[in-house]
Amino acid sequence: MDTLAEVARVVSACTDCQLHAGRTNAVPGEGPDAAELLFIGEGPGFHEDRQGRPFVGPAGNFLEDLLQSIGMTRDQVYIANMVKCRPPENRDPSPSEIAACSKYLDRQIELLDPLLIVTLGRFSTARFIPGQSISRVRGRLRRVNGRHIFPIMHPAAGLRRQEMRAAIEEDFAKIPGLLDVLRIQSEPASEGPQVRETGASFEPTPSQQSRSLWDVIAPTEPESSGSETEAPAPAELDEPNDPPPGQQRLF
Ligand code: URA
Ligand code: SF4
Repeated sequence: MDTLAEVARVVSACTDCQLHAGRTNAVPGEGPDAAELLFIGEGPGFHEDRQGRPFVGPAGNFLEDLLQSIGMTRDQVYIANMVKCRPPENRDPSPSEIAACSKYLDRQIELLDPLLIVTLGRFSTARFIPGQSISRVRGRLRRVNGRHIFPIMHPAAGLRRQEMRAAIEEDFAKIPGLLDVLRIQSEPASEGPQVRETGASFEPTPSQQSRSLWDVIAPTEPESSGSETEAPAPAELDEPNDPPPGQQRLF
């Protein structure tokens, strides 16, 4: 599988787990080959199975609204799922189904080499950050085995519960700043230190002009927004569980 199109072709004919038996269409994923941003959901639902495209039902509409809120459209990003065929009755994908399908997502990630991976919900988050609850890790950038991972709660959860919706919107709003920082960081080393010190190639919006790069990465939380779904304060995060080897918590 040397191209994303080829991955999609192989996925469409795959029978490597039992999910193939119930599908109308496999849903390999879609987006430009050069997308900087990769979203990883859980698995196709009813509408996705019918159309063979990811996130085209209600959760997809919400995802499109979220993208619009940061000035992006879905044709600028790559959208994939942990499993490419719909689990019956939208049940959770099983560990063996996820294992059977992971070779496709692995290859998609290699071929895309995205600047930032946004994991939507607990299944895709667990692929990079196992054993931690999504409510604990969401909204904070991590580096995992050389990839930048930003976990967010699943849009479908936001459709069910208003406080989750607010948390998702809050986390989503951080994406443009993260991309700016990661773009600067990925520039050739000869330019890197200079840019990092002066912030020269970072174009702040007026409200960001007096803020440091660090403020953009980890914006100060407003005092009054004390919802239960907020990520714990950094101090709390730091003590009990240091990231395992290969992982680095960036903030
Ligand atoms: N939910 C997902 O996780 N993926 C989709 O493609 C659609 C809904
Ligand atoms: Fe193949 Fe993945 Fe579909 Fe299972 S879910 S049949 S591994 S493409």
